[in-house]
Amino acid sequence: MKIAIINGPNLNLLGVREPGIYGKSSFDDYFETLKARFPNVEFSYFQSNSEGAIIDELHRVGFDCDGVVLNAGAYTHYSIAIADAIRAITAPVVEVHISNVGAREDFRHVSVISSACVGVVAGFGMDSYALGVQAIIDKK
Ligand code: DQA
Repeated sequence: MKIAIINGPNLNLLGVREPGIYGKSSFDDYFETLKARFPNVEFSYFQSNSEGAIIDELHRVGFDCDGVVLNAGAYTHYSIAIADAIRAITAPVVEVHISNVGAREDFRHVSVISSACVGVVAGFGMDSYALGVQAIIDKK
């Protein structure tokens, strides 16, 4: 099974960025835990701070993998272009957030990508990614 993890803007700074909200672990460190937890999954990982690059990656992996775990960061709240890209590909996409966006500022309560995704996981720290991966496996 092939699963793509895609992280959006500012998620390259995990471990450094607002650790009280996003935790102290870098994504690279967490990724080792994730791979060990799902030894039968072939993972790819991509991070970009640019909307177009995220769309290009969705197009690249989206016809050739079993699912995408996407943390679009702040683009979640306003990128119609990413929502359209999710609709354009064939792989199911799970929207994930490290923080519980529903318990934060009002502007984070809106997701323009949720309706294009098969489901949403939010608020479980870095384990939101593992729950997203498990959801793709269970839906297969
Ligand atoms: C986030 C939540 C977003 O509102 C924020 O802009 C992020 C990270 C999360 O993982 O909790 O960059 O997607």
